Amino acid sequence: MNSVEFLYLSQKDVLDLNLSIEDMTDLVEEGLKEHGLQRVENPPKPGIHAMKDSFIHAMPSYLRGPHLGGIKWVSGYPSNREKDLPTIMGVLILNDMDTGAPVCMMDCGWITAVRTAAVSAITAKYCASSCTRTLGIIGAGVQGRHNLVALKKMIPGIEEAKVYDIVRPAAEKIKKDFEDELQVKITVCDDPEVAARDTQILLTATQKLPRPIVRKDWISKGCLCFGLENSRGWYGDAILAADKFITDDWEQTKSFQQVGAFPDGLPTLYAELGDIVCGRKPGRESDDEMIVAMSIGLALEDIMVGHKLYTMAKEKGIGQTLRLL
Ligand SMILES: NC(=O)c1ccc[n+]([C@@H]2O[C@H](COP(=O)([O-])OP(=O)(O)OC[C@H]3O[C@@H](n4cnc5c(N)ncnc54)[C@H](O)[C@@H]3O)[C@@H](O)[C@H]2O)c1
Repeated sequence: MNSVEFLYLSQKDVLDLNLSIEDMTDLVEEGLKEHGLQRVENPPKPGIHAMKDSFIHAMPSYLRGPHLGGIKWVSGYPSNREKDLPTIMGVLILNDMDTGAPVCMMDCGWITAVRTAAVSAITAKYCASSCTRTLGIIGAGVQGRHNLVALKKMIPGIEEAKVYDIVRPAAEKIKKDFEDELQVKITVCDDPEVAARDTQILLTATQKLPRPIVRKDWISKGCLCFGLENSRGWYGDAILAADKFITDDWEQTKSFQQVGAFPDGLPTLYAELGDIVCGRKPGRESDDEMIVAMSIGLALEDIMVGHKLYTMAKEKGIGQTLRLL
């Protein structure tokens, strides 16, 4: 019998490959287009929940067009910060789609962080208002930081980011790290309402919350709203007031409602993001529309990016080959 080996890539290996946010955004957009063209198998993610407010999700996906597939096994433990560990950790396994053999296992922490921000940037490409100048960020952790970078790269007209975090030093660190680099004025706010009001893009990227944060009357006309905590950051009437509600996968969104998301009811779906990316539906049609985008995250995004990293690693001789059989 032939031997079976796979490539192992640590987070350092993944980072050393230096894939740019621009390249990653293109890969994620290509994957979302495949989703829009209904050429993917990407079932809603099941999870296990051993600790309060935690999850470990299984996320398989197969993209028929590029013939790529695999699975991400990713945990979210908000209390990890006290243990000096990241909230999000896990591995991505890529398989040979002709034999099913695993060909690569890699850290998925960085991929998850950046591909999620790439999804926001792609949404903004199609749905941000033409007068976008100010971005509000509530939650200045990993996602808050990566979303700031990805959104500014996609919408260069962003001049100011107003940032609030319940832990003020997290917001101050964003200012220190990115104000000069991105040439964006960063205002650290003491109150989420101040960060939210008078913005054309408003993003919440917090953890599980005892109650929502964003109230309907804080949202400006024409705002593009992102909630990364599966609706929990936003009061129900704020979500239901959307002129257009977008998610990445409606079946997955409905499955999340069954385990507690959208407690005040699901809004009417305007489009899945892939429908907009592949041109089946328009994104923003007027600067007055309030658009709410709550994408829950699709494994196909991880597979697209992971496969690129795997190819680059083989070319550069990075990683460790391990024998399975
Ligand atoms: N949709 C997706 O595809 C996707 C992917 C990855 C992460 N997420 C979600 O994004 C969220 C953020 O993830 P992360 O990796 O940035 O976590 P993180 O722990 O790095 O950052 C969360 C930040 O929120 C802050 N925070 C907590 N409660 C707050 C409150 N009430 N008001 C203001 N700030 C508050 C924390 O202090 C922290 O700085 C999580 O809910 C995570 O599950 C979604």
